[in-house]
Amino acid sequence: MILQPLVINNKVVKFPIIQGGMGIRISLSKLANACMNSGIVATISAAQVGFLKKNFRNDPLGENKIELKKEIDKIRAVNKNGVLGVNLMYAINDYDKYATFLATQDIDFIVSGAGLPVDLPGYLVGSNVKGAFIISSARAAKLLLKSWDRSYQYMPAFIVCEGPLAGGHLGFSKEDMESGNVDSLEIIVEETKKVVKEYEDKYNIEIPIIAGGGVHDGVDMARMIQVGASGVQISTRFIATHECDASDAYKQMIIDAKEDDIVRVASPAGLPGRAVRNFLTRSLEKGNMKVSYCVNCLKSCKKIGIPYCITEQLGNSSSGDKNGLIFTGAKAYLINKIDYVENVVQEIIRDCKKELSAVGGIK
Ligand SMILES: Cc1cc2nc3c(=O)[nH]c(=O)nc-3n(C[C@H](O)[C@H](O)[C@H](O)COP(=O)(O)O)c2cc1C
Repeated sequence: MILQPLVINNKVVKFPIIQGGMGIRISLSKLANACMNSGIVATISAAQVGFLKKNFRNDPLGENKIELKKEIDKIRAVNKNGVLGVNLMYAINDYDKYATFLATQDIDFIVSGAGLPVDLPGYLVGSNVKGAFIISSARAAKLLLKSWDRSYQYMPAFIVCEGPLAGGHLGFSKEDMESGNVDSLEIIVEETKKVVKEYEDKYNIEIPIIAGGGVHDGVDMARMIQVGASGVQISTRFIATHECDASDAYKQMIIDAKEDDIVRVASPAGLPGRAVRNFLTRSLEKGNMKVSYCVNCLKSCKKIGIPYCITEQLGNSSSGDKNGLIFTGAKAYLINKIDYVENVVQEIIRDCKKELSAVGGIK
């Protein structure tokens, strides 16, 4: 029940909040800078950062690497010491090439979810960049810890537990989401803590557990700290900020969304996702969307007979198309204005502290 600063890559972060990575082009340098200046961890999403470049469709890997470097350098030019990471989904093609490239950049960590990044530590040998992962079950955490321990004698800088209220791709099957056969975030955190203990003892380290998915305010955050999380990962709340890199149209869709506008949508990644109901989600109820091009983005995409192209639809929406795919977390309906990141962080921390002191104490 104690709110302590997070330590990642030997750097102390004032408030134990990680701004989660959001693709495509939603969490880039503008949002990252504001988050780091507000005393929290920032994460750029590596997903298709080069989407707007002329040559993107011919050379997505090359353009994405150029744009990723530009975004990282923009941040480091003004913020040398803040904790900055890159979210690199394991589901993408060329994961190895991106991870090898990112290991040479001025960032603190690479965090991977959307699959089990069993080989991530292999790309980090000799690098100052640390590895971390996102899981949606203690079972997945156990598998990764065992594998990283056996193959690399390497432990994650932190573990994000992502629950069923998260945005973007969800780590649960469509069937389990529909039947409600999914653990709450609280349970995932508690179970993961038990699994991690063995490795914390073996390596004599602490592995921070970060709770993400539906953490909207300080009360939510306090609840996660009470069940044993060292911090929280928050994404959707940061979309509705002046500094978020998404288009104004995207931000407005988040602000306007009512509870029943937030729906589940199938992704060509083979996982369910969560999005704001719009032209795209309504069209998908009737059939598949036309796919204009393919940049071979996902390992698991079948390319033929898919409902839509995720790169095309997410890229369009972040650039201003209200008819594209508007990924969101389940609690977007609680957001009703655009604010500054600093205000959002201060409000969450104030309310979290208030809540924790009411139940027993705070440092
Ligand atoms: C618009 C949007 C895009 C996202 N993109 C990614 C991504 O590229 N990679 C990833 O691992 N998670 C992605 N996520 C998941 C978030 O990083 C985060 O873990 C989760 O949404 C936290 O829940 P919250 O949105 O309720 O705060 C995305 C979420 C949203 C809302």
